[in-house]
Amino acid sequence: MNCKLLAFGALAAAGMLLAAQSAAPPLPGTWHAQETFSRRGHTTTLHLEYVFQLDGTHLSGVAASDRGRSGAIRGSLRGSQLNLQIYNPFSPYAAAQAAQGTLTRNQLTLTLGSRYGAPARTVVFTKVSDDTSYHLPVSLRHPPLPVFHPLPPNRLALTPPMGWNSWNHFASKVDDQKIRQTADLLVSTGMAAAGYVYVNIDDTWEGTRDAQGNIRSNAKFPDMQALAAYVHSRGLKLGIYSSPGPRTCAGYEGSYRHEAQDARTYAAWGIDYLKYDWCSASSVYTPQQMPAVYENMALALRATRRPMVFSLCEYGWDNVGVWGAAAGGNLWRTTDDIADNYPSMTFNGFSQNGRQFSAGPGHWNDPDMLEIGNGGMTAGEYRTHLSLWAMLAAPLLAGNDLTAMTPATLAILANKEVIAVDQDPLGQQGWMIAQRGDQEIWMRPLSGGASAVALFNRGTRPATMSVRWSALGLRSPATVRDLWAHRDLDAAQFFSANVPAHGVVMLRVQ
Ligand code: GLA
Repeated sequence: MNCKLLAFGALAAAGMLLAAQSAAPPLPGTWHAQETFSRRGHTTTLHLEYVFQLDGTHLSGVAASDRGRSGAIRGSLRGSQLNLQIYNPFSPYAAAQAAQGTLTRNQLTLTLGSRYGAPARTVVFTKVSDDTSYHLPVSLRHPPLPVFHPLPPNRLALTPPMGWNSWNHFASKVDDQKIRQTADLLVSTGMAAAGYVYVNIDDTWEGTRDAQGNIRSNAKFPDMQALAAYVHSRGLKLGIYSSPGPRTCAGYEGSYRHEAQDARTYAAWGIDYLKYDWCSASSVYTPQQMPAVYENMALALRATRRPMVFSLCEYGWDNVGVWGAAAGGNLWRTTDDIADNYPSMTFNGFSQNGRQFSAGPGHWNDPDMLEIGNGGMTAGEYRTHLSLWAMLAAPLLAGNDLTAMTPATLAILANKEVIAVDQDPLGQQGWMIAQRGDQEIWMRPLSGGASAVALFNRGTRPATMSVRWSALGLRSPATVRDLWAHRDLDAAQFFSANVPAHGVVMLRVQ
């Protein structure tokens, strides 16, 4: 039994003693419950700690467990009946959990509503103390974070990172063999030559720590170092995933309190890229600590002297565009998770308008990974996806199953003319310059005085869209190139095209 369980166990025993002494304890104070879960043959015990404050009938407080704080309590106490909402202000899925309870002679019985598909459950609490302030459990207290100070650039990702990531298609069904197969296919399909060089393992590779605290990969990845060598032998780079919290989003071991050690392990394995996903860090840090928490890992990565691209995954919270680069990030997520459908993709993409001021060589806004080829959108919608990401100077991380890639998908993903816009060395993210109803025109200045112009029709009917170069501040361009038709066009002053529903016409004008 580790010390946190002991600490909670002692609290629980004290609680029973207290409960026995006083018949009907007042609600304000600290309450404890213990739950046992069985999942895939593993049994886990969770110690819950709820701290209540009462003002008249108005309840507030903190819901926590031995994994850290999980939410803020708001609700009411009328007679012996409690009605609560537990808000997780830090959760990417900020849904409140409803709970109803009854305060009886010596216990509090709470029924916690269903959440994320888990059924409702009833939990019995006993009071452990009258303390109404929440303290992070001893076992979860961490050494002080370094004082945040702006870090110089690490000179990586001078253009938006390109590669592939396992999450969008495989989620937890990723393993060593799939990574090797993907590496082979990136090369044989020409994707690598088009720029897709990072092969990134997302969540669910993590195993347990050894006696010295070194992280080990789980049975799906028998030898990370050998895998990295294999990926490198194909001329590619290997990426990995972790969390600053105790647990990753999928519930695997995070890097909490092992940051420097994990960075050294990644370097020893030959890792080239780290995606660092906030998730359970909310249970141990405040949002205000987020920049320092990320910088802590950036410093750990830099201390290894192995170049590793650092990808911040915190869904765009807390103005990450303002501090992400200073915290050592090469890219940072700016949205919730993308899904393989047109509304999700366009929400993530078009909502980036205005974020162009925080992107540039070495530090990019990341509206999440590509869904191209995963089957939920039409070819035209996937062309919009790549075009929009290119206009945004967004990282291009394919997320499809390369073993089943169709020629049509490859033609979209490997469109070198659109990729050249994404990878333009000026690194200036584009923005919307005109909008009428569902029709948007975007522009992105490119190096050498060129511009990319994209005509997006977000409507459900084809539309004729026009643009006059002077209205874009461009003098009559010498050349206009259609980057999907791969044709030079004749458009001295004016360009007009029929744009399909949900489609795009993307041009390079010089
Ligand atoms: C979060 C991230 C995703 C993915 C999963 C893995 O949801 O935003 O991109 O990494 O976690 O659990």
